[in-house]
Amino acid sequence: MSTPAFGLSKTKLSAESLAEFACDVRAGLRKPQKELHSKYLYDELGSALFEAITHLPEYGLTRADERLLCAHAAEIADLAGAPVSVIELGSGMGRKTRSILSALRPSNRELRYFPIDVSAEALARCERELADVADVHPRRQSYLDGLAGAAAERRPGEALLLLFLGSTIGNFERPCALEFLRDLRRWLKAGDALLVGADLVKDLGRMLVAYDDPTGVTAGFNLNLLGRINRELGANFELRNFEHLACWSERERRIEMHLRARSDQRVFIAACGLEVRFRAGETIWTESSHKFVPAEMFAMAAESGFQVEAQWVDQEWPFVESYWTAR
Ligand code: TRP
Repeated sequence: MSTPAFGLSKTKLSAESLAEFACDVRAGLRKPQKELHSKYLYDELGSALFEAITHLPEYGLTRADERLLCAHAAEIADLAGAPVSVIELGSGMGRKTRSILSALRPSNRELRYFPIDVSAEALARCERELADVADVHPRRQSYLDGLAGAAAERRPGEALLLLFLGSTIGNFERPCALEFLRDLRRWLKAGDALLVGADLVKDLGRMLVAYDDPTGVTAGFNLNLLGRINRELGANFELRNFEHLACWSERERRIEMHLRARSDQRVFIAACGLEVRFRAGETIWTESSHKFVPAEMFAMAAESGFQVEAQWVDQEWPFVESYWTAR
């Protein structure tokens, strides 16, 4: 039995990126530890499920991020100065960004905001909801392509404030995170700013339940990746034969999310021309969420060409907002 794909057709990727999706899925599922890239979690349904995650009582991360931005918006605006344009990587609906834009607005009369995201739906909402506080220029692109495009719009004498919130930096392997920060630095000029949000190491129980909520929303978010492969790549994953798994790796200081096969099984993926075998208990690794300690931000900044100017930590849900300038 397959799930009808009605109403989801607009989420389909163009032919070119569909080929890339198929290629990535093929490569990932042929590895000894099977894996799927987390960027594919965010089709329209995945983005909606992620939005639901941010409302879960167990998932305090987004609220901590919002509280910090709200509490320190005026300081952030002071540090950023004027004239400045704001670019956000992975904006989603841009809900967290309102307070910063509002604080920047008085000294930047024509404040421009460039949200970058893979979800068209999220960008459309972002544009609608923030139109009253900024001149919104959405870009449906990858982070680095979007940044390159937005940075090219810089006006003479203007600085850039780059936002990378929600601990998305934690979804990179640590060495890749550093590499990525260096890539960001290349598009910036000395004096431009980067505001990074990072989730901190906390009580193990709190971390685990944040990624394995009793409502099952995170499980649905994770399982939707298999549903998406069925819809877009013509696969026959039986979603009920897989279960969501979240575990803590002490060595890597990260939560890992996997999809675990409940039984021996075979799956055919038409667009990849691939049959995949699973043993009962075998997993597909879909996401990692690394956790940080505040001091680590200083090393990351220094090693990628930035300097930490200010840092704020939430007391309720340990999370850090770190404000850097490009050296
Ligand atoms: N960056 C956030 C985090 O690591 C959001 C996120 C990414 C997330 N992938 C996720 C949240 C999977 C829940 C499940 O927490």
